[in-house]
Amino acid sequence: MIRRQILKGAAGLALTALGAAPAFAQQVVKVGVILPMTGPFASTGRQVEAGARLWMAQNGDTVAGKKIEIIVRDDTGSADQTKRIATEMVVNDKVAVIAGFGLTPLALSVGPVATQAKIPAVIMAAGTTTIVSSSPYYARTSFTLSQNTVPMAQWAAKNGIKTVVTLVSDYGPGLDAEKAFKAEFESKGGKVLDTLRSPVMNPEFAPFLQKAKDLKPEALFMVVPSGQGASLMKQVNERELAKAGIRIIGTGDMTDDDQLKGMGDALIGVVTSHNYSAAHDSPENKAYVAGFLKANNNLRPNFMSVGGYDGMALIYKALEKTKGDADGTKLIDAMKGVAWTSPRGPMSIDATTRDITQNVYIREVKKVDGQLWNVEFETMPNVKGDVK
Ligand code: PHB
Repeated sequence: MIRRQILKGAAGLALTALGAAPAFAQQVVKVGVILPMTGPFASTGRQVEAGARLWMAQNGDTVAGKKIEIIVRDDTGSADQTKRIATEMVVNDKVAVIAGFGLTPLALSVGPVATQAKIPAVIMAAGTTTIVSSSPYYARTSFTLSQNTVPMAQWAAKNGIKTVVTLVSDYGPGLDAEKAFKAEFESKGGKVLDTLRSPVMNPEFAPFLQKAKDLKPEALFMVVPSGQGASLMKQVNERELAKAGIRIIGTGDMTDDDQLKGMGDALIGVVTSHNYSAAHDSPENKAYVAGFLKANNNLRPNFMSVGGYDGMALIYKALEKTKGDADGTKLIDAMKGVAWTSPRGPMSIDATTRDITQNVYIREVKKVDGQLWNVEFETMPNVKGDVK
C-alpha cells in the first residue's frame, strides 16, 4: 500500500517534471489489433495487418492532432485468447479501439468487452451477419456472406443453371451463405438438391465432394474460409467434377487472391461473387495493389487485406469527425454513415446497422499476363450487409 503510494507519487512527480506529459499521453490513440498470426488462419492475420499498416504508411500516423499507434497481437485463432487479449488491451494498454478478428467466433468473443468498455470493435475480417447486432460498439469493414452470396444465386439462375448442390463450412458464415443461396436461387426457380456441410477445422472435403458428384447437379456452390481455398480446389480437381459436367461456383473466399496464383490452370473459368478482387480496375486499386506488393515482398493483397486497410480508414475518418476526441461512444457514433471510395470500390457504414454496404462483383478466373486473376465482369451496386 505504502509502496504503491510512493510509486504513485513518483509517477506524479515524473509527469509534473515533464510538464507536457499528461497532455502528451492523451495525444496518442492506441488501436489494439487482434488477429490469427499463427495457426491455420495465419494468412488472414498477415493480410489484415499488412492492409492496416499500408493505410498508415500512405496516410501518416497522425490524424486530427492525434498520433495513432497500432498494437498487433496474435490470438492463434482461439476465441478465448481473443477475448483475453482484448481485455488486457483495454485495461493495461488503454486502447481506444479494438479491431481485427479473423473468424466469426473470434469476433463474437469481444462483443461483451467492447460493450462494457464502451469502445468500438472494428470487424476487419469476419463475415457472419448477426455479429454487428450483438453489441452497439461493433462496426464492420469486411463483408458478410449473405451479401456476397445473393448476387451469385441471382447470376446462376439468370445464366440457365437449374440445379445446385451447396457445400459450406459448418459454422456461422457458411450457414449464412447456404441459407442465402437456397432462398434466392429457389425464389428464381432453381432447385438446391442438397445442402452439405464440412467441419471448419481440419476439413476433409473428399467425402462431401464425392456426395456432390453423385447428386449430379449442374453446379456446385462452395464457401470455405480464407486459407482453405487451395486445398478445397485441389480436391475438386482430383475428383474431376468439371469433367463430370458440374460447374464450380461460389463466393470469392475459395479463389482467394492470397493463394490463387498457385492454384493451377484447372481454375480457369470458375465463377465467383465477391466484394474484392486484386484485379479490380480502378485507380484506387491500382495504387493499392502496387503499394501492397512493394511493402510485402510481392504478396498479392486479398479481400482480408482491404478489411484491414478500410478498418484503419474508418478509424481515421471517425477521429476526423470527432476532431480527435477518442471517447468510444463518440467514435462509434462518428463511424455511422461514413462513405468513401476504397480499393474495392464505393463503400459505406450503414448508419443504423453499423454494417458495411458495398458493391459485389461477379468474377471469372482468367489467366492474364501469365498469372491467374479474378476478373470482374458484372457489378451489383451497394449491397447491404444484412441483405436477406
Ligand atoms: C468468418 O469466420 O467469419 C470468415 C472467415 C473467413 C472467410 C469468411 C468468413 O473467408
